[in-house]
Amino acid sequence: MIDIHSHILPGVDDGAKDMAAALEMARMAADDGIKKMIATPHLFRGSDSASGFEEIEKARKEFTEAIKENDIPLEVFTGAEVHISHNLIDEIRVHRRFLVLNQSRYMFIEFPSEHVFSGVKDLVFELMTEGIIPIIAHPERNSIFRRNPNFLYELLQMGVLSQVNQGSFNGIYGTHVQEAVFRFLELGYVHFLATDCHNTWVMPPRLSEAVKKAAAIIGEENARKLVEDNPLCVIEDKEVSYIPEPKKAEAKRKTFKIKLPSFMQKK
Ligand SMILES: [Fe+2]
Repeated sequence: MIDIHSHILPGVDDGAKDMAAALEMARMAADDGIKKMIATPHLFRGSDSASGFEEIEKARKEFTEAIKENDIPLEVFTGAEVHISHNLIDEIRVHRRFLVLNQSRYMFIEFPSEHVFSGVKDLVFELMTEGIIPIIAHPERNSIFRRNPNFLYELLQMGVLSQVNQGSFNGIYGTHVQEAVFRFLELGYVHFLATDCHNTWVMPPRLSEAVKKAAAIIGEENARKLVEDNPLCVIEDKEVSYIPEPKKAEAKRKTFKIKLPSFMQKK
């Protein structure tokens, strides 16, 4: 399997705090069957952001060396999780190679969990004009997409892709997020399943359990494509091979409880 979303680099963001922690995560990932991983430190996210592009590259090189020395069968690639910011297009023009995933056309975009800013469609259009295909990081964790899945549908119709987190299947972010991840799968809104690992306990580098849960909804073959075929297309900068036809979401039916007058109640 290939994990395209991880915070495994030692000491650069709110993920692995040092090399020992990063190596422990790498071992856990390899034991779960993850063979390749893209390191995606937070960028432009305030206090959780990684220190700088050069530091990230240095950390990746040191980590790659340490993995080899420790005989851990895991290959690590460069990437980022890019928090939406007003000057993103300017940043891309200058620092593109640090923002995209493994020098490819694909780039993660991350929204704040409680809102999606109004100009997002314009931004998506501009990104695509720059030759970038945005991948929305964990839309199931965003309350706007949960309440209005058709907003996500409209972005997917523009050519945007989406990635869900393994932890969402287990309910670690709450039942609303758990319900949303299954709903998005049913609707054909999911192209990647990744770990978004930060440590070995709450957000660990494991995929296999979540793949089984996804398989119950979309079938085993398609679930594998979320962790194998599509991620490989990202690493090799090829067109993503598995894009399900997204369905428009129907409004959730509300149930009303009506208190019947006593003479109408069943005895
Ligand atoms: Fe992340």
